[in-house]
Amino acid sequence: MIKPKTYTEAISLIKERLDIVDVVSEYVILKKSGRNYMGCCPFHKEKTPSFSVNPERQIYKCFGCGEGGDALSFLMKINNQSFNEVISELAQKFGIPLPEFKGQEGSSDLKKQIFNVNELAAEYFEKNLFENPTAQKALEYLLEKRKYDKSIIKKYRFGYSSNKYDELLKYLSKEHNISTDLMEKAGLISQSKSKDNFIDRFRGRLMIPIEDENSNIVGFGARTLEEGQNPKYLNSPETLVYNKSRIIYGLNKAKSSIREQDAVVVMEGYFDVITAQVNGVENAVATCGTALTKSHIKNLSRYMTKRKIYLAFDADAAGQMAIQRGVETVKEAFEGLGEIKQFDDNFNTNTDFSCEIRVINTPEGKDPDEFIKTHGAEAYKTLVEKAPLLIDYEISTIINKEGDAKTPQQKAAVIKKLIPLLFEVKNEIIKEEYIKKISKQLDIAQNAINKELSHYKGGTTNNEIKIQRKTEISQIVKKITNKCIIAQKNLLSVYFINENKIAFDTLNSFLNDVEFIDENLILIKNTLKEISKEVTNKQELEQKAMDRLVDNSEAKKELIDIIFMAQQLNSMNARNLKEYIEDNISVINEYPDTNKNKQLKAKYKEAQDEISSLQLQYELREQLKKKYSRLETN
Ligand code: UTP
Ligand code: MN
Repeated sequence: MIKPKTYTEAISLIKERLDIVDVVSEYVILKKSGRNYMGCCPFHKEKTPSFSVNPERQIYKCFGCGEGGDALSFLMKINNQSFNEVISELAQKFGIPLPEFKGQEGSSDLKKQIFNVNELAAEYFEKNLFENPTAQKALEYLLEKRKYDKSIIKKYRFGYSSNKYDELLKYLSKEHNISTDLMEKAGLISQSKSKDNFIDRFRGRLMIPIEDENSNIVGFGARTLEEGQNPKYLNSPETLVYNKSRIIYGLNKAKSSIREQDAVVVMEGYFDVITAQVNGVENAVATCGTALTKSHIKNLSRYMTKRKIYLAFDADAAGQMAIQRGVETVKEAFEGLGEIKQFDDNFNTNTDFSCEIRVINTPEGKDPDEFIKTHGAEAYKTLVEKAPLLIDYEISTIINKEGDAKTPQQKAAVIKKLIPLLFEVKNEIIKEEYIKKISKQLDIAQNAINKELSHYKGGTTNNEIKIQRKTEISQIVKKITNKCIIAQKNLLSVYFINENKIAFDTLNSFLNDVEFIDENLILIKNTLKEISKEVTNKQELEQKAMDRLVDNSEAKKELIDIIFMAQQLNSMNARNLKEYIEDNISVINEYPDTNKNKQLKAKYKEAQDEISSLQLQYELREQLKKKYSRLETN
């Protein structure tokens, strides 16, 4: 029997045994068409096939929805599994013994170093909490205000950062020989205001480690212990290992419960999650001080098949807005997978649905943490069980907000707001039931509601509203960014043109000083540069690049795009090609102040309140105006 020595080796053995056509055929009816096979894409609804499988390259791509990858990414996507889950199932199927997975073998040493220094810092903060006299306040806060006992404090690894300016810095460098460079990369220290030295980022705060799904510490949330101090929570900055739009607080502890219940409860705060989890709502998680993003949702949906998502945001106005935004995000994330489930389990239907959204509303303006503390765990569990479907929540919110609609005009106004909701319900029986309910509640004839509904053409669908909302500036940014991204992909596709038009070395030197802006494309560029030095032809390059990105679906998808794009370049001669390269490089080089712009955009994304985001929009606009006209005429 074959016995792979490393996890990576096992992956190659598994890949060798997989055939993309066999794998896909289990889920899609494929028809041979030239060198490829075609079928209807399983990832979005379509009637004419645009899903193409290429047996030579062992990849698939949908020209309708853009999905693409190899056999492994196909299995991940279709079964909602993580890379490691797919691998371990296949290993079993093929009888290949799987060596222990030792983190990212050789792929990212720096990541490991950052995890390590974060771990050391967490241990230091933990020790502080119990041993440092100045931590008294923090410990009391946890025990008395939060009512957490010692086992909870230990389980969630609470800590305390002392008030001194460089205590952690000194400790890490003296006791563990950690460089300031690494500490900065981990976001533990920052440059002081005078800029001539480094200081601890977190001082005099209650420390909450943020762990990824494998319990590596990626960053910290740090709560103030002073009344009125701002910010209330100081968080780690984004680092190589801490991507705020992806990381979900509490996921490592919640994941098995999410899988078991096929459901997740998304909350707002660290303390909401901790209190919920220790009180038996084990599938509770939260984003870390940012709005819910599509990446969060995708990250979560890996653990669910039916994607039952409970939104349990705070009962204040901000929380209600967050629900609306959250709903939009969930819808976007599952776009193309079908409708949102609009019926309860006792309603028998075969309708496919993309996800189920329910809303948990905590009464009396409380957040889950406060609610559980005052009313107990059982009361909260009842709230979860009774949580209304999104549509019920939305209908009752509208009806409640409008108060008693009495006059004909008031009633018409409420109906006008309800119509778009009803319009979204595709099942006629369910739709009719809601109309019946509303008609009773507001004392309006069903017939009249039906007539209004039939006039409605879905005038402002969510997408349209979103487009309207988009400011002029974000459109400009998008236009230019798109152009720049396409240029980057164009350049990378040159690697995959048929032989002998341009040597890898020449291409590498062309691209050396070109600054790419997209995370995945940067990775692909570096990977191709490295591999191209070892291989002699494009098949080998393609193979090795796919192998290198084997566990990175997003980057793999981009790579496949690039490989497909290359087919269109095959007819070019060497001179055309050189021009093509130069043209694309100049598009990238003209991208406004690449780095500065990137920082601004990152800030813009993070800016949570309207005012600072407006300010940033303004700055961005000023920056872009300078280059905008020139780029547009290109
Ligand atoms: P809340 O203000 O609702 O926090 O913010 P909370 O946990 O209920 O507050 P306390 O501690 O009980 O008073 C919810 C979440 O938003 C993020 C944190 O992740 C917090 O848990 N947040 C809040 C920040 O990142 N920064 C802030 O300044 C405030
Ligand atoms: Mn809160």
